[in-house]
Amino acid sequence: MSQHEIVINKDQIHKIPEYFISNAMRFKKQMLVYECAVREITTKLEILDTELGHLTQRNPISSIKSRVKQPDSIIQKLIKEGHPLTVESLENNLSDVAGVRVICSYIDDIYQLYDMLKSQDDIEILEIKDYINYPKDNGYRSLHVIVKIPVFLSTGKHYSKVEIQIRTIAMDFWASLEHEIRYKKNIGSLETISQDLLDCANTIAETDQKMLDIRNSINKLNGDQEQ
Ligand code: GTP
Ligand code: MG
Repeated sequence: MSQHEIVINKDQIHKIPEYFISNAMRFKKQMLVYECAVREITTKLEILDTELGHLTQRNPISSIKSRVKQPDSIIQKLIKEGHPLTVESLENNLSDVAGVRVICSYIDDIYQLYDMLKSQDDIEILEIKDYINYPKDNGYRSLHVIVKIPVFLSTGKHYSKVEIQIRTIAMDFWASLEHEIRYKKNIGSLETISQDLLDCANTIAETDQKMLDIRNSINKLNGDQEQ
């Protein structure tokens, strides 16, 4: 060994500025990949919405919201689930860093959009949770899909997972308020509130179904008149 060679052992490597910087750069790049993946999914959904609007004179999507998880939330979740704080661990263990929420008008729009996304050959479906046909005990309804898509950067192809939540306006209304209520401190009798929320979720599901039935009846009437 030459006199100037520095030997670094595993414990010391974390103390080297270059190591910190290179990790920070990798993290930044991964966040960029997530950002681009969210944009790709959003564009895909907007294209489908525009096309379906032309074909059927009705847009299935009411709105699209998206977000990339903030670094502090990423760290909190990795720690909570007992995963290492590395970029690899982030990629392997978290599926909801990139998130897109699609709000539809009717229940059948949700499954139509899902089928259309599924048939695109650059999208791989990793996981699906159908909380519409199988609502959560508290009444939560939504279709959750984890997809994997490629993002092309100057350095090549990078894959990203995206969590897509698809639900109706009514389901979103309930989820937003339930989320707000759940995080409110000092809520009195939690049990009654949970039952009330469940009742609201069921009423909302009934209303969603009724609205779909009304739309179908009107479509049928229009179809009959055109013949
Ligand atoms: P986390 O990602 O850690 O939440 O666990 P998971 O992967 O098992 O979650 P799941 O796919 O069931 O839900 C992920 C996301 O769906 C949450 O971060 C929320 O945005 C939404 N969600 C799930 N359950 C509820 C619920 O009961 N109420 C509301 N308002 N949102 C929910
Ligand atoms: Mg999740």
